[in-house]
Amino acid sequence: MARDFASVGVVGLGTMGAGIVEVFARNGIDVVAVEVAEDAMERGRAILTGSTDRAVAKGKLAETDREALLGRVRFAVGLDALHSVDLVVEAVPEHLDLKQRIFAELDRVCKPEAILATNTSSLSVTEISVATSRPNQVIGIHFFNPAPVMKLVEVVRTVVTSVDVVADVESLCERLGKVDVTISDRAGFIANALLFGYLNHAVAMFESRYATREDIDAAMKLGCGLPMGPLALMDLIGVDTAYEILDTMYRRGGRDRRHAPVPLIKQMVTAGLLGRKSGRGFYTYERPGSPVVVPDEQTPVATEAAIGDGARAIATVGVVGSGTMATGIIEVFAKAGYEVVSVTRGAEKSAKVFEALKTSLNKGVVRGKLSEADRDAALGRINWSATLEHLADVDLVVEAVVEELSVKKALFASLDEICKPGVVLATTTSSLPVIDVAMATQRPADVVGLHFFNPAPLMPLVEVVATIRTSTETTATARAVCAALGKTGVVCGDRSGFIVNALLFPYLNDAVKMLEASYSTADDIDHAMKLGCGYPMGPFELLDVVGLDVSLAIQRELYLELREPGFAPAPLLEHLVTAGYLGRKSGRGFRDHTRR
Ligand SMILES: NC(=O)c1ccc[n+]([C@@H]2O[C@H](COP(=O)([O-])OP(=O)(O)OC[C@H]3O[C@@H](n4cnc5c(N)ncnc54)[C@H](O)[C@@H]3O)[C@@H](O)[C@H]2O)c1
Repeated sequence: MARDFASVGVVGLGTMGAGIVEVFARNGIDVVAVEVAEDAMERGRAILTGSTDRAVAKGKLAETDREALLGRVRFAVGLDALHSVDLVVEAVPEHLDLKQRIFAELDRVCKPEAILATNTSSLSVTEISVATSRPNQVIGIHFFNPAPVMKLVEVVRTVVTSVDVVADVESLCERLGKVDVTISDRAGFIANALLFGYLNHAVAMFESRYATREDIDAAMKLGCGLPMGPLALMDLIGVDTAYEILDTMYRRGGRDRRHAPVPLIKQMVTAGLLGRKSGRGFYTYERPGSPVVVPDEQTPVATEAAIGDGARAIATVGVVGSGTMATGIIEVFAKAGYEVVSVTRGAEKSAKVFEALKTSLNKGVVRGKLSEADRDAALGRINWSATLEHLADVDLVVEAVVEELSVKKALFASLDEICKPGVVLATTTSSLPVIDVAMATQRPADVVGLHFFNPAPLMPLVEVVATIRTSTETTATARAVCAALGKTGVVCGDRSGFIVNALLFPYLNDAVKMLEASYSTADDIDHAMKLGCGYPMGPFELLDVVGLDVSLAIQRELYLELREPGFAPAPLLEHLVTAGYLGRKSGRGFRDHTRR
């Protein structure tokens, strides 16, 4: 018969422990909440009351339910209070020796049939279990932050965890309204194994001043639809906890350099900049524990005047190309009131772009997002041409032709001959070095990358890529143009993948490697990232949408430029592409899209 978990214990009431207490108490289970000292216990109590107060204020919890919830929790100092609970979840700091000591003590204190669980993110559950005389009753129950909100729980079984303990914990998760994925004991399990390389890489970008913290975070939120940017997430996790997780993953997970904590992380821990919990981490918060970010000395001045500071005036824009991106970009500029000169390779191509544009604008009219008059005005602002000479007088040229360096270089050389002095020349390349096209001209200071996302009219992000030759005036102009288009322009250096692709694709590639290693299934990995980290799509869903061939090409570029062994494309990805399984567009990728 399945165990009845009438009462549980939680050890450690920090970021995770306090949330885990709330999860149990909300679901009618009595909780003994244990800390190491009186003041830490009071801090834990304050986290719980603060969280339940917010739930009441938001109308998500009735006043009486809050009272009942709090009534189910008994706070105590010391593990002796746990003698009669059916299950203990440990959530103390991520140190193996500390956890082993606590488990040895729990083994002594708790009744023989009690299950002992750890919330560790990266340590070996097996190593923790052998500190007890009941390793078959030790299991990992890995909640996600914030525990009351995130739906996922990773249930980690070791080689000795007994089958009925796994089954009982799985049904407990269901009772808690969580979705569980059960996996074996490997560093970082599913979600953290995929997440922490990405977080560490984002910190490295920040540390090397490749982009600002705001721009890195905005890029991942707006470019990938993530609920928060990586640096804000580091602050939520806790910079000290993140350090320990990375360090353990580096040591346990095959010494992958991508998990070696970036030096800045250790410096922040030493300086007490632990994230939200200490009131300051990558950002500054209203007070310790508060989620509210307040301005500090790194906060950029966000007024319109400041964004446009030093920018050149742009009234007319040339767009070269006739593909999906060019069409979208013409629409974006024309709708924003710019005079546009579209240059394609002939009247037939122009007619195709015109039709696509009309269809898109008409959709806006049907959906009530655009008036007929605005549609007509936007179309009226576009001049159609098949010769680059018509770009002689424009203020800005945006190139969106085929992704081939020789073609782009030839085009920029021609633009250099034709365009007036002072023009800003922009490329939308997503993978080629902007400096290569800039050096095809005599005016590299005026060349910048403007990396729009597809579909350009909808996606709110533009990456502004400044090369080592781009002038500050050109960058300022590009940023001001993005703002005038109603887009968020994030500025970054000229490195493969810019911000978004450099952070996104290695993560997708890692997911493929995880699948290839048979650690988990595509469904569970997708679930873990959606329910544990709030991603809008799981990695395999996204790979099938983006296209496996496109993903492989980007990953190869990243690998070639950075020579990072961990970026080597997953053999499975290569094989699928060779086999013609390219994702949705070919009917089959990681999933079969022909059967619905
Ligand atoms: N922070 C996250 O996003 C996250 C997510 C999932 C899992 N985890 C894991 O959860 C665990 C806790 O992490 P955290 O971020 O909550 O850490 P934290 O530093 O916020 O909290 C740890 C708490 O444990 C208490 N503690 C220390 N020694 C103790 C002892 N001997 N007895 C009782 N309490 C003790 C501390 O006083 C502190 O309140 C770690 O294993 C971590 O890897 C963290």
